[in-house]
Amino acid sequence: MTPDPQVLDRARRLLTDADRIFVLTGAGVSAESGVPTFRGEAGLWKRHRPEELATPQAFARDPRLVWEWYGWRRELVSRCLPNPAHRALATLAARSGNVSLVTQNVDDLHERAASELGRGAPAPSPPLHLHGSLFSVRCTRCSWRGPHRASIDATSLDTLPRCDQCGSLLRPDVVWFGEALDREVLQNAFERAREANLCLVVGTSAVVHPAASLPLVTRQAGGALVEVNPDDTGVSHVADAALRGPAGALLPLLIETL
Ligand code: OAD
Ligand code: ZN
Repeated sequence: MTPDPQVLDRARRLLTDADRIFVLTGAGVSAESGVPTFRGEAGLWKRHRPEELATPQAFARDPRLVWEWYGWRRELVSRCLPNPAHRALATLAARSGNVSLVTQNVDDLHERAASELGRGAPAPSPPLHLHGSLFSVRCTRCSWRGPHRASIDATSLDTLPRCDQCGSLLRPDVVWFGEALDREVLQNAFERAREANLCLVVGTSAVVHPAASLPLVTRQAGGALVEVNPDDTGVSHVADAALRGPAGALLPLLIETL
């Protein structure tokens, strides 16, 4: 994969000049780890109808089926490893100290890449998960929420995870269709996007709002926009540099030579 040298040069210069970097990632950053994306030929939404699985109504109708799907996704992600794109972003964050990483992904591959950086490396702050996490749950009745990594037994309603506090069903702590994003997380993300002088947007089709508005916020506040994606996206038309190709090949080229 050889990117256009002029575009690569421009992107490098923009990154070098920026002292506050905002990174937005989507499913494409984890594609080379083996996590399916949502749209496109082999996308998750091609094989499952979102309204059957990723809505509060679906969970109310058939929590067993929804948990079975999330249990399967959890196991799939647990078998995957961070790829060079996750590692390059972790390196950038550890090196510059002024990088805000915001992801739409519900996997934990950014965190795992950061923890693999090696002893002695400064730990970058954890990513903001706009759409929640596969490894967090919250109670369907009380306000309890927390981490949950155990495998899911979805053989019957009685074997599904239950709240320690009130005994009600727990649900995945992810944002479903028709649900609002966590207000604090969203506010935080918008603030960081506004303050940044560069937004690096990686592996997202940039069609799902409000996440897709974040690169535009940086742009409107006078910052630059660098995109890494094999295809055109909802924000390509305003990118100052668009690197076309897989993130696992391009991000190390872009970041490790800075
Ligand atoms: P999409 O599936 O919409 O888009 C994936 C993007 O990754 C596409 O633009 C691909 O071109 C790109 N891509 C594929 N392989 C790549 C690679 N190796 N390197 C870099 N890019 C690559 O996924 P998202 O944009 O993340 O929301 O989707 C946004 C949201 O839509 C998801 O978070 C999910 C879904 O509905 C919720 O579940 C709330
Ligand atoms: Zn509860």
